[in-house]
Amino acid sequence: MLKEFSLEQRFALVTGGSKGLGYAMAEALGRASAEVAIVSRHGEELDAAAKKLSVKINRRFLPLVADVTRADQVEAMTEEAIKAFGRLDILINNAGINIRNPTIEMTEDEFRQIIDINLVGAFLVARTVGRYMAEQKSGSIINVASMVGIVGLAGRPGYTASKGGLIQLTRTMALELAQVGVRVNALCPGPFVTEMNRPLVDDPEKNKEFVQRIPMGRWGDPQELAGSIIFLASDASSFMTGATLVVDGGWTSQ
Ligand SMILES: NC(=O)c1ccc[n+]([C@@H]2O[C@H](COP(=O)([O-])OP(=O)(O)OC[C@H]3O[C@@H](n4cnc5c(N)ncnc54)[C@H](OP(=O)(O)O)[C@@H]3O)[C@@H](O)[C@H]2O)c1
Repeated sequence: MLKEFSLEQRFALVTGGSKGLGYAMAEALGRASAEVAIVSRHGEELDAAAKKLSVKINRRFLPLVADVTRADQVEAMTEEAIKAFGRLDILINNAGINIRNPTIEMTEDEFRQIIDINLVGAFLVARTVGRYMAEQKSGSIINVASMVGIVGLAGRPGYTASKGGLIQLTRTMALELAQVGVRVNALCPGPFVTEMNRPLVDDPEKNKEFVQRIPMGRWGDPQELAGSIIFLASDASSFMTGATLVVDGGWTSQ
């Protein structure tokens, strides 16, 4: 591996690391030699994920239970990670949910729930870790937004609004922290096969219809985010901040 891409002696926190894209990104960081803590709300599933990752690539993965919508829990898990690692160099701000319902049918509670986790939660984590990194005078924050933070998608009003907001939060934080050595970028995945997309993947008709809309004609495999996440986390992207890196099989080029 080129030394610019190495994450040796780098310490990372991945929210939503118990499954899906977060799990795959945690694995990628570990493979690039980072020490990684993974965060989610359900301890048993999280412990199992940490154990599985540790066995798979023969590194320690630290499980930290927290709900990103709770400022006190976000503070506590950040402190715990720093206590364990001594520092924090990389934040993958990835925890998120999706609720599908057209705008005129979506309940206020559904809309608020999505915004609360995907946007307020991401803000709380980025703020808490950002404060620490600003003091440390180094760090890379990667906010996991989405292709639908850039383009609209019918039936996902809360989700698209939350991800568009996260891209703007990324740009503003990037400007605020550029002078203190902290880079803030957004990763915008397109359609990947994870639990979040099971309702589409498992329904043959919906799946066929959706795949027809993907220019590359297939879903992405979470492992296909490895290169992008290592790039954004490492010195290989040292002059990059406030950017959105899109990995979407061509979707947003339509
Ligand atoms: N899959 C895609 O195609 C796709 C495309 C674009 C963007 N994304 C984004 O990528 C991220 C990961 O998606 P995914 O597909 O991997 O979803 P997923 O398989 O459903 O995983 C979501 C992860 O987030 C955690 N999480 C949810 N709410 C949380 C909370 N309040 N506090 C802490 N952790 C929480 C979940 O664990 P617990 O439920 O146990 O807490 C789980 O670890 C999301 O932000 C999503 O919007 C996904």
